[in-house]
Amino acid sequence: MLTSFHPPQRTLMGPGPSDVSNRVLEALARPTIGHLDPAFIGMMDEIKELLQFAFRTENALTLPVSAPGSAGMEACFVNLVSPGSKVVVAQNGVFGGRMQENVERCGGTAVLVEDDWGKTIDLHKVEEALKENSDAEILAFVHAETSTGASSDAEGLCELARGHDCLTIVDTVTSLGGIDVNVDGWGADAVYSGTQKCLSCVPGISPITFSERAADLIRTNPHKAQSWFLDMELVMGYWGPGAQRAYHHTAPINALYGLHEALLILHEEGLENAWARHRLHHGALAAGLATLGIEFLVDEAHRLPQLNSVVIPKGIDDAAVRKQLLQDFDLEIGAGLGPLAGKVWRIGLMGHSARRENVLLCLRALEDVLGQHGQSISSGAAVAAAEAWYADAS
Ligand SMILES: Cc1ncc(COP(=O)(O)O)c(C=O)c1O
Repeated sequence: MLTSFHPPQRTLMGPGPSDVSNRVLEALARPTIGHLDPAFIGMMDEIKELLQFAFRTENALTLPVSAPGSAGMEACFVNLVSPGSKVVVAQNGVFGGRMQENVERCGGTAVLVEDDWGKTIDLHKVEEALKENSDAEILAFVHAETSTGASSDAEGLCELARGHDCLTIVDTVTSLGGIDVNVDGWGADAVYSGTQKCLSCVPGISPITFSERAADLIRTNPHKAQSWFLDMELVMGYWGPGAQRAYHHTAPINALYGLHEALLILHEEGLENAWARHRLHHGALAAGLATLGIEFLVDEAHRLPQLNSVVIPKGIDDAAVRKQLLQDFDLEIGAGLGPLAGKVWRIGLMGHSARRENVLLCLRALEDVLGQHGQSISSGAAVAAAEAWYADAS
């Protein structure tokens, strides 16, 4: 017989979604109202304000796209890339590759600047590509590569782009709320994110923001965006500054209650405190992993605190360990993607998942499971190292 679905209670320490707090879950369960109800419209305005706070921007065109991060990505490309446009795309993991795909699907030409997976984007290579392609209109890159755990110098890349008269498209899906995203400080033009990472809301919404420069281009571009749903000129009629709130699509009303609450939590904590919390728990996790002989893929200077890519010890069965963590500890960690499949685990400490109890659970569970898989483990050492880290930090 079919019955209601009750998911197991997991601890989410993969590459997203992250744990969703009870406060956000309760917000999701509030009564659904109409998406043109004045009460709802008031909340939409607050979401826009809170997103400006999170992105550190005064951009008027800042809103949540009613679809996941991939739709935020597409919204940037379909609105700014016209057939024949040339776009320099930096790729150092999965998501830079998707940017290239987006450019090509919009009829543009992508000039790919590649770095090894796990490395930060090399600014010199990007500069060379911009010099060699003076007709390029846009530079696109990922600030925090979720597939590898590497961060890149968004400020430096935006400065390079401006120096070559290019707009920027920046992926901050994994960075927003976890490390500094400074849209106005960077002078970035089209920036998108996701709700299921360091904002710790449910998946399915993509915060997005466009600079005045980018918004002007969207308004004046004679070429119609190839996606009706993501055409920002149309979306602006519902969400845009001073909009009449004309019907465009039915917003995901309850999911937006959740986003409002998640952003409020971030606002209450403060951005600097949220970033410091991610760094603190990353430090404790790293201290514990070191006792297990587990090494990081990314060099220390470019490691994302919220996404820890660690090298799977030799002889260990990747899938079997992850399965056992899930079965015995209700703990999810992430697998490697592409060339890193089977080689790394991705341990997320994103948003509400960046907590002491999660770090200690993960270390305890890894000690136990790796011990069962024949690793020589000094029992309790990982948790003790993390506890010592917390004691030093306090
Ligand atoms: C860096 C990055 N960009 C884009 C996406 C796509 O987001 P979504 O899965 O919400 O469509 C993800 C998802 O993991 C991501 O990590």
